Formats: sequence, structure tokens, C-alpha cells
Amino acid sequence: MTKLDYRRTYNCGTLTASMIGETVTLAGWVNRRRDHGGLIFIDLRDRFGLTQLVFNPDKNPECHTQAEKLRSEYVIAIKGEVIPRAEGMKNPNMHTGEIEVMVSEMEVLSTAKTPPFSVCDEMIQVNEEIRLKYRYLDMRRGEIGDKLITRHKAMLSVRNYLDQEGFLEIATPILGKSTPEGARDYLVPSRIYPGNFYALPQSPQIFKQLLMVGGMDRYFQIAPCFRDEDLRADRQPEFSQIDLEMSFSTTDELFPLIESLLRKMFKDCGDIDISSKFRSESYDWCIENYGTDKPDLRFGMPLVPLNDIAERSNFSVFKDQISGGGIVKGLCVKGGADISRKGIDQYTEFVGHLGIKGLAWMKMQEEGQLSSSIVKFFSEELQKELIERFKCVPGDLIFMIADDKGRVNLSLDQLRRKIARDRDFIDSNHFEFLWVTDFPLMTWDAESHRLETEHHPFTAPLEEDIPLLDSDPLKVRSSSYDLVLNGYEIASGSQRIHDSELQHKIFEILKLSEEELNDRFGFFINALKYGTPPHLGIALGVERLMMIISRTENIRDVIAFPKTQKAADLMMNSPSVVDHKQLLELGVSVEVD
Ligand code: AMO
Ligand code: AMP
Repeated sequence: MTKLDYRRTYNCGTLTASMIGETVTLAGWVNRRRDHGGLIFIDLRDRFGLTQLVFNPDKNPECHTQAEKLRSEYVIAIKGEVIPRAEGMKNPNMHTGEIEVMVSEMEVLSTAKTPPFSVCDEMIQVNEEIRLKYRYLDMRRGEIGDKLITRHKAMLSVRNYLDQEGFLEIATPILGKSTPEGARDYLVPSRIYPGNFYALPQSPQIFKQLLMVGGMDRYFQIAPCFRDEDLRADRQPEFSQIDLEMSFSTTDELFPLIESLLRKMFKDCGDIDISSKFRSESYDWCIENYGTDKPDLRFGMPLVPLNDIAERSNFSVFKDQISGGGIVKGLCVKGGADISRKGIDQYTEFVGHLGIKGLAWMKMQEEGQLSSSIVKFFSEELQKELIERFKCVPGDLIFMIADDKGRVNLSLDQLRRKIARDRDFIDSNHFEFLWVTDFPLMTWDAESHRLETEHHPFTAPLEEDIPLLDSDPLKVRSSSYDLVLNGYEIASGSQRIHDSELQHKIFEILKLSEEELNDRFGFFINALKYGTPPHLGIALGVERLMMIISRTENIRDVIAFPKTQKAADLMMNSPSVVDHKQLLELGVSVEVD
């Protein structure tokens, strides 16, 4: 038998009624085979769609016999004529639903083992570990593939936009030196310099600043970043940033630029129109009102401070916390009075996992009274104040938490998000952007007993706060900014220090010894001495943006070959042990407890 030329004339998602009568060549995977006694139907699948093939024993017995042997996921090429589907067999929901292809020639290009899960049935829930082990099969199921296509379109949109705006895409090294982004480094031993290590970049921060010193003016890169940190649903050990930096500019120019970039990207890759304005609030405002620097503003439920009311009550749980230096805050669940005792217990357990000892609640009755076992500790006057402060109406429920400030904010933020999800308060078609500004420059790290920078040490303090650097460094505000979308931190950046003395001083405040400073950052401080333009920049987390656009809460869904929550690649079985010989060459010896 002569071999079929498997170069396609169309892909599997193209053919419509206007092509009826044409002879076509298609190739793809057997999605499903239905044997109707006489006729055999095959849905042929590729990245672009499905086309129904028909094998008729009366018209082409040889081909029909071949088709009897086809199984799911075989790869085949066929030649045949596009014909209309019989009346009643048309599928208006499918692009190719009006036609089928009567096969006259077929070749099996590759057979397939029975897959470990059904590839053709997207609805079947498959354990994620199996999906990750066989990622290439999971990709065929459409969902992952669609997200990769969205990501491709998004990156193309970004590249085109930034090119238009005069940014140059410049690659920076992967084998580098430790950069201080706050996570642990992934290290690569050097064979040529035994005992020495490269670090994989946590971000291209230093390089992009050096590109500004080098006069490149506007840089961007879709940059791979590596961080050895505790993983969460929105964190991977390797991820990508849309990383950019610009000279002689300020946030008056940067913010509108990023807003336009995102509007265009959302339109180009997800056909999403962002009509709403980007809000801007200070870090303090966010913590006060939402307990977090990345509030989800798609629904209300702000946090309400209650210390003054609690102090005047007789509720010892609250009063004791306050006298011990803690705070009391609460939130009001609109229409939440229907939450049962069991429901309240579940929320209590939820905050309990975050270290909170109890969850106080009150319901507002139809008659306008508050009810709960703890109402008796609040005078009528205080109950009125509570109702006013929470803007409660009958049918609402109040939750209140007393603990230290950090735990109250953290737990109420988590509780607020959970309640909003449970009670369907979130409009998933709504995109609420928020610039967060005026972060503190430094925080106190109780573990290491020293100051740490909130963003990174290259961030400029606000000009007017520079005098406080010596007297009260924790009061110094920074020029950094985050961009938050629907409760996720999607970007972060700052105006940079471009004065070598100020940079040196920041490292000193961070208690880097002169030796450490010279070894790690000497070259950088030196570079700043050769004429450095004022510059600023930002990095957007690609995967988080893609998660939001693709409406998934799992970061792995938007990465072709992701790692698990435990930083493992289940398909390649990585990380893995290496040959002793390799270690010898690198001068590395391994001790595992
Ligand atoms: P930052 O460390 O805030 O800033 O990172 C910028 C953005 O990258 C995303 N991101 C991550 N996404 C997935 N997995 C991770 N492990 C992860 N870590 C961070 C977030 C975050 O907002 N060099 C600075 C930027 C600058 O100053 O220009 C930096 O890397 O969306
Ligand atoms: P107790 O006196 O421990 O029975 O608590 C009375 C009510 O106060 C219960 O509803 C507890 O869940 C709640 N409660 C206890 N500790 C706290 C706390 N730290 N914050 C808020 N509510 C609490």
C-alpha cells in the first residue's frame, strides 16, 4: 500500500458546510470511536478542534477494516471527501458540526497504549498527581491547552505593547549571584571553581538596574525567576515576571503605562474589557480596612475597629485581650443571620487553624435587636453603637475577633474571603485593580533581630522621610508600590536608590558587615558611582495574572510543566539523586540526615 502524504490541507477545527465536496487531508488523534455495526465514526482531534470521520464498508471496505482496529489516542492521517451530515446528526454547538469526512484513505502514524485516564472526557475528575505525571496527556484534554494559548496571546500582547513604548527586551543571566528578594536561593555548584556556587535569579533586579546605568533607558523581559520558598496556591518555585525598568521617569508615567498594558493584555488574550478605574490606597488604609495589603475589593465587608466599644463592655474575653495589648475587630455578613450554629462552629474552626481562640458573633433580629449568648455583656447603648458602626440591618450577622493585631488582621482577612466565596458574594467577571502605596521601608524581623526591607534594599525611601533613617527607621515610608487584583498581589516595584551613598547607608542599617556588603553588592554600589540616572520599575507575576484571566485558583493550571506543592516534578521525577561521579567533578559531597 502506498503511504499517505500526512501533510494536512486543514486542521481538525476548520471544516464547515462551505467546503462540502472538497477532498481534504487531516491528521490527529482518535478522540472517540463509535461502531454502528455498518458505519464507523471517529472524532479526530487536534489542538484546533474535532472533525467527525465516517468509514463506510460499502464504499471503502479496506479502510473500514483498518478503522475497526483504531483505538483511543492512535495518531492517524486520512484523506476523504467533506460531506454534509445526515439530517438530525448536525451539531450546531460545534464549528465543524454540519459536516463529516467520508474517508477514502487512512494511515496509522502511531499507535497508543491505553491512557491512564480518559483524554476525551474533560468532565471526568482525575487526581492531580496522575495528571501531572502524564502532563502531555492532560494537555490533550483541552483545558490546560486553552490556558497555554491564552498565556501565549498575553505575552505576545505585552511584547508588542512594550516594543511600541520604546522598551527593549534584553535577556539577563540565569547563572548569577544571590539577589535579595527574601526567599532562599537555588544554588548551582561550579565545576571550574570548586566550592563556589552560582545562584539562580530570584528576579533580574540588579541586572535591570545595571541596564539603566548602562544607558539602555527602557528594558523589559519575560523573566524566569527561581525562589526556594514555602509554596502556596499562587506560588511556584519557578515562575515568570513581566519585568521592566525605566530611566528618568516617575510613577506618574509608570502607573498609566502599566494600566494600559493590562487593559490591552486582558482584551487581547481574554476578550475582557476593563472599564473600571484603577484605585490607589495607602498600605495603612488597606491594613486598617481589610487587614491585608492585598485586599479583594470586589465585595464589601470591611473590617471594623471595636476597641473603644469593647473596652466599655463587660465582656472579659475582649477586655483581657485589649489590656494585654491586643485589639478587637469585626465584620458584618449581610444577610448572614441564616448561618446556623453548625455554620458558625465551622467558621470558628476555620479561624482556629490560624491560631485564634474563638469567634464571637451576634445576629440582628427582625425587631432590630442583637442576639447572641454574649449580648448580655454589652449595654443597650453599646449594642446601638455596634449596630451603627457595622451599618447592620435586620438579618445581618456580626463576627468579632480579639487577639494581637497581626493575628486579628490575618484571620479576619481570611474569614472575609472565605465567607464571600461560601455565600457567592463575588462576581467572577469583575476585575478590581488597586495600587497600594506608602509601604513602610523596613520591618523588624523578630527572628534575626534586625531590620529587613519590606520590598528589597534597592527601594528608595520617600524623600521627606530620609531624615528618619537614623532616628526612627521603622517610620520611614518607601517609594514602593504593589498592584493588587481581586485579592492577589500581581505586581510589585519601586523607585530605586540611584545614589551610591544612600545605597551604602541602607545596607549598613540592614546590618550587613562591610565584608558582606563588599562581597555581595560592592560591584553594584561601585556601578552607581559612574553616573546613574534616576530610575524605577516593576515586575508583574505572569502566572498570577493568567490564573485570574483563566479563572482558576490553581497556579499549576497555567504552567505547561509545573511543580507540585512540594516543589517536585512528578513526570521527570525531579529533584533526583545524581551520579557520584558528577558530584566528585563538582567537588560536592552530600550529607543527608
Ligand atoms: P516581587 O518579589 O514582589 O518583586 O515579585 C514580583 C511579582 O512576582 C510574582 N511572584 C510570584 N509568582 C509566582 N510564584 C512565586 N513564587 C512568586 N513570587 C513572586 C508576584 C509578585 O508581585 N524585583 C522585584 C520587582 C521590582 O522591584 O521591580 C520583585 O521581584 O505577582
Ligand atoms: P467563652 O467565654 O470562652 O465561652 O467564649 C464566649 C464566646 O466568645 C464564644 O463565642 C467564643 O467563640 C468567643 N471568643 C472566645 N475567645 C475569643 C476571641 N479571642 N475573639 C473573639 N471571640 C472569642
